[in-house]
Amino acid sequence: MIILGIESSCDETAVAIVKDGKEILSSVVASQIDVHTEFGGVVPEVASRIHVENISICIEKALKEANMTMEQIDAIAVTKGPGLIGCLHVGVQAAKTLAFAFHKPLIPVHHLAGHIYANSLVVDLKYPLLALVVSGGNSELVYMKDEHSFEILGETQDDAIGEAYDKVARVLDLGYPGGPKIDQLAKQGEPIYSLPQPKTEGKYDFSFSGLKSGVLQFVKRKEKAHETFKMEDLAASFQETALNEIFSRVERVLKDYPDIQHFVVGGGVSANSRLREKVEELRQKYPKIEFTVPPMYCCTDNACMIAVAGEIANKVGRRGSADLSGDSSWAI
Ligand code: KG4
Repeated sequence: MIILGIESSCDETAVAIVKDGKEILSSVVASQIDVHTEFGGVVPEVASRIHVENISICIEKALKEANMTMEQIDAIAVTKGPGLIGCLHVGVQAAKTLAFAFHKPLIPVHHLAGHIYANSLVVDLKYPLLALVVSGGNSELVYMKDEHSFEILGETQDDAIGEAYDKVARVLDLGYPGGPKIDQLAKQGEPIYSLPQPKTEGKYDFSFSGLKSGVLQFVKRKEKAHETFKMEDLAASFQETALNEIFSRVERVLKDYPDIQHFVVGGGVSANSRLREKVEELRQKYPKIEFTVPPMYCCTDNACMIAVAGEIANKVGRRGSADLSGDSSWAI
């Protein structure tokens, strides 16, 4: 099956064509990072306007790169949610128009499912599976008994981890997006500063807002006392505390669910080098489980992952009709 996938849930307009859920025939990503950098974060209204400008160009480009016409496409998959509502509407409307004009089936896709199935571009997934989705909008631990069943075991109670990276980077005046900048800075530092340990009630839940405020308080205290501190050490301390929060929950799940065969990671924060080291440490500790972190090109938002998730959703008969709409808080 050849699926054209469309993704527009945040600040990337992306279109891809994928064959049989494995072979990428084309992948176009128009990033808006440069525009949002000026504002220090994504401005939803600006993002949706840019999606409107980019979407048709990306569709045309994806078809051209794959050397295909719309007639050769078997179905259209599109991110229905979650995400920024104005942004989602642009992708959904474009998908509906293509489906209507070319008489193609329409498949609504969940953004988190996309991040999880991105892994199947590089490896065959084994079930039961545990997925860690960490991005600017999500921090979730998802248990999948089989291919199309999703159970959220844990999630953030406040900020997503990527959001915390971006906000801490703003405090340190590093620019947007903050994740890659803190990642680089932390490599030159040591996690020597003690920051507030997150507190949550749910056994597998996360929390990052107290940690983020802890960094701000730390900087203010130092400034007030006219004391210096090393930004590299503060970045390393923040990163280590945040990732320890994540990985302590991952280990709890691995211990409580001994049937898990495969652990996968998805979302922009999976590009983080320290996170990748921590997955390696887990691999050594749990040799019976398969561990996969996707390559960089499918960690951050892209449409290959939406086409792949569309292929799987199609198998279980998921279809969108003419009244399909974006849903900013769509449950998986
Ligand atoms: O998945 P994504 O492209 O977009 C959504 O949020 O859906 O993720 C973007 C997030 C941003 O918060 C960015 O700072 C973070 O991923 N990120 C990273 C790294 N690269 C991107 N966070 C930590 N370390 C990185 N190397």
